[in-house]
Amino acid sequence: MIPAGFLQDLLARTDIVEVVGRHVELKRSGANLMGLCPFHAEKSPSFSVSPGKQFYHCFGCGASGDAIRFLTEHQGLSFVEAVRDLAQRVGLQVPEEQVSADEQQRREKLRERRVSLADVLAKAADFYRAQLRANPRAVAYLKARGLTGAIAARFGLGYAPPGWRTLAGVFAHYDDPLLEEGGLVRQREADAGGDDAERGRYDWFRDRIVFPIRSVQGEVIGFGGRVLDDSKPKYINSPETPLFSKGRELYGLFEARQALRDKGYALVVEGYMDVVALAQSGFANAVATLGTACTAEHVQKLFRFTDSVVFSFDGDAAGRRAAARALEAALPHATDLRSVKFLFLPPEHDPDSFVRELGPAAFETAVTQAVPLSRQLVEQAGADADLSTAEGRARMLAQARPLWQALPDGALKRQLLPELARQAGLGDADLAALWGGRPAPTAAPAPLRPPRPTARTGRKAPAATADLALRLLLRHSDWWERLGADDQQLLHALGGAHGETVAWLEQQITEHGPLTWAALAVALDGTPLHAAAQAWVGGGAFDEEHGFEDLQRVLHRLWIAHHEETVRALIAEGRTDREHLDRIAACRELIKQHRAAESLPIG
Ligand code: UTP
Ligand code: MN
Repeated sequence: MIPAGFLQDLLARTDIVEVVGRHVELKRSGANLMGLCPFHAEKSPSFSVSPGKQFYHCFGCGASGDAIRFLTEHQGLSFVEAVRDLAQRVGLQVPEEQVSADEQQRREKLRERRVSLADVLAKAADFYRAQLRANPRAVAYLKARGLTGAIAARFGLGYAPPGWRTLAGVFAHYDDPLLEEGGLVRQREADAGGDDAERGRYDWFRDRIVFPIRSVQGEVIGFGGRVLDDSKPKYINSPETPLFSKGRELYGLFEARQALRDKGYALVVEGYMDVVALAQSGFANAVATLGTACTAEHVQKLFRFTDSVVFSFDGDAAGRRAAARALEAALPHATDLRSVKFLFLPPEHDPDSFVRELGPAAFETAVTQAVPLSRQLVEQAGADADLSTAEGRARMLAQARPLWQALPDGALKRQLLPELARQAGLGDADLAALWGGRPAPTAAPAPLRPPRPTARTGRKAPAATADLALRLLLRHSDWWERLGADDQQLLHALGGAHGETVAWLEQQITEHGPLTWAALAVALDGTPLHAAAQAWVGGGAFDEEHGFEDLQRVLHRLWIAHHEETVRALIAEGRTDREHLDRIAACRELIKQHRAAESLPIG
């Protein structure tokens, strides 16, 4: 943990005007400086920075905080990264945390491994880029797809030559475990036949166009590779590594950051080529999920950079399925100040072919006609439901309910209730009663303390963090009893399979005491939770190295998500009375404390 005294020193030496001024154009206005808020779209400045208080505040969206907060919220840095960034600028040395020697060593090892992996990937990216320049066939392929050299350079596109061991000429030690860990080489099965040359390691990317995947900080963390013809598989990707996780990363986000601000929205597409082709056609604000469904964590990440997201899908059945997943991922984050829309392209097109054939203006028009989230929710709820029958209308409501409930409380959610009631032929009060809510919430006196988590508020935790919490708990069920009652309650309040598994686990522990994962797995067998639990425990490497501190850190993250959700919901209520603002402030203070305690990102 970084000592509080150091943070005070650091903030005392930092000039917030300079930190914010690097990203926002500020004009002096009395004692403060004003500019266009970088956290929401606006035409006249309501974002103020106070040099006296060393604080920023937006009168439009309520964003506020100190210089550290600005860097975490605006630049997507972790708390520790932001502290390091500022410390470096003012020439302070971040003091070492007070942790056990073992923990210290473990963290140092993890950090070194990440740094070494990043070095290896950066070197591979350089090599692939140089190879692209040297390979006319690869250049011709990209040109044929309409790309200029400038765009290829912007995305650092490369080419992996055909040889099986080309990287042996790039890295001094081809048998370095980092090459395999980083997904650059693979190991053949020991019992595979063939002669010596065919045994052992080989390059994973061969004779492919290579797309480097960058973190928001611009580091290469993985690659995608496309064949130059029609052979299969069309794309291969880096595996999950300590640096790279498909459920978290978005291709093109680093390259898109400026454009997200300029355009005021993010365009989420499905393919690498869509991102690159859209950037070529003037839509540099495009990002892609990496061959996986859009996750809530993807959405949350995007909302750190923009308030408005447009998902683009192919107009076929697969596109509608993908849209359904994206809607579910977006719902928990769809507060009243944000916009989420769905763009369905004609079945024969993806964004790349659309923009190249019909032009940027046609695409721009399609974007303006995108379907708002509320309409998509109603459509999706009505899928396979015949609204001319009572059964069909009941089915629609059953499908709508989990979607509606996933929305944060606010005006949007409240307006949707009568809308759904109308569709179902029910009165507003009937539906509200059916779904267990009161039609118009009376202004009950709000407690100053932020609300305790319930199953309703808890469900918004980022999926990957909840996954990790369950993985740790299932692996180390003896840790459950070391947790405080509040932490246990927060875990119980996780939505879906996460919360159910927590309840199941607690029951097991109550009945049998802590059990090994092997024993739990036997008990789980045949239950509906089995598959999910297997996936959490099985996925990802380096489990052995987790300590109880990791679980505590995960809990800090879950608390941060919980309180942030509360803040969003409170802001969306739009009240400005003292009590309401105090509750928001109390939540923000808790978030700050958890952030400080979280201190180090986990792989
Ligand atoms: P698409 O097949 O739609 O890709 O798959 P694309 O970008 O339009 O490909 P082009 O235009 O033919 O070059 C969408 C995404 O799904 C993942 C990739 O991330 C791809 O960009 N994918 C697809 C794979 O991982 N493997 C595959 O074999 C195919
Ligand atoms: Mn395509």
